[in-house]
Amino acid sequence: MVVSTIRQPETLAEAKDTVRRQEAELQDRRWQITELRRELEDTNRGLIALYTELEDARHAEARLAAIVTSSDDAIISMTSQQVIQTWNSGAQRLLGHTAAQIVGKPAEVLFPEESRELFEDTLEQIQSGLHAEPYDTRWRRSDGALVDVAVTVSAMRDGDGALIGYSTLGRDITHRLAVQAALAAARADREVVADRERIARDLHDMVIQRVFGAGLTLQGVVAMVTQPKAKDRIGAAIAELDLTIQELRNAIFELHRPQEATSLRSQILELTGTAQRGLGFTPTVNFDGPVDAAVPDDTADHVLAVLREALSNITRHANASAVEVSLHAGTELRLLVSDNGRGLGQAAHTSGLANLRRRAHDLGGTFEVTSRPGTGTRLHWRIPLRRA
Ligand SMILES: Nc1ncnc2c1ncn2[C@@H]1O[C@H](COP(=O)(O)OP(=O)(O)OP(=O)(O)O)[C@@H](O)[C@H]1O
Ligand SMILES: [Mg+2]
Repeated sequence: MVVSTIRQPETLAEAKDTVRRQEAELQDRRWQITELRRELEDTNRGLIALYTELEDARHAEARLAAIVTSSDDAIISMTSQQVIQTWNSGAQRLLGHTAAQIVGKPAEVLFPEESRELFEDTLEQIQSGLHAEPYDTRWRRSDGALVDVAVTVSAMRDGDGALIGYSTLGRDITHRLAVQAALAAARADREVVADRERIARDLHDMVIQRVFGAGLTLQGVVAMVTQPKAKDRIGAAIAELDLTIQELRNAIFELHRPQEATSLRSQILELTGTAQRGLGFTPTVNFDGPVDAAVPDDTADHVLAVLREALSNITRHANASAVEVSLHAGTELRLLVSDNGRGLGQAAHTSGLANLRRRAHDLGGTFEVTSRPGTGTRLHWRIPLRRA
């Protein structure tokens, strides 16, 4: 800063000159100050804008994180080397692993053989810059069970467009598949009903009319016959034809009646569907083997009774958020019902469970309950199955 020293003016002219110079200097400083202030204000505005931008970005990020966290779907991100990087609670619900258990592991732990191939194909498509279509497959849960999922994989790229990983979305489609199966079964049923209607119509319009016609002809003949023995025999034949017509009518009535027998598979799906109301979520259901063909009706009734009790126990005692039901039909019939609820604890009495054990023993099988506090309960009911 320039500091001017004030001297005694020698002349008036000199004094005026000094004053003018000082005024000019002062003006100059005012200018500098105004300039500085403007610069300061500009900087300030810049800072505020930057702050606002940062805040917006922070909010956007928080919103995104909330969407991922609260999503019902499994949202999993992985590096380009297929190492799992993030794992939301939807993924935990669907597949069992917690984020702490799975982050850092190779993604292939989630895939059974056929699913791994589909995943690799999808990654190849993405790597060659194509859009990958969603696909249905099965993933492996932490307890080893397979769950049906619809999978969408997309590329994660950095600012320069380079591939840095994959984001994978998995949606539980157990319920959708169950509905599709029920629909297919309903369609098949409708075809059977249409077939029965057609057969009933043919019987009525053609077979009965012909038998009836034959009866009329015989009645005409009987009037012409004089021999009593022949008369009797023709009369008996006419009575026989009447009886046949009556039987045909009964058969037609039976054909028109709706079929009552429903498959074990659809009865199990119906049971789990009903249990959903009490549980607040849909149990996962897996079938393995010729469940409908290999299980006789009376055994199917036992299976349904066991499942009914197991689901009722979970609804009333378990406080679970996931239930898995699997039915395997092979040389033995295995029903597995597991929940992730509070576990059995020190159950003071057993009645429903004791019945399940008795049913298994009566059929030459076994019944096991395994349970650890906090990790849920697993019922394993198995009986030998005679091959049809
Ligand atoms: N899935 C489960 N989760 C947690 N606790 C369970 C579960 N299943 C059974 N329990 C506990 O085990 C006890 C015995 O079950 P059990 O089915 O034998 O009897 P209940 O359900 O109490 O009575 P009932 O079956 O006669 O209605 C229950 O009272 C409950 O405390
Ligand atoms: Mg019970």
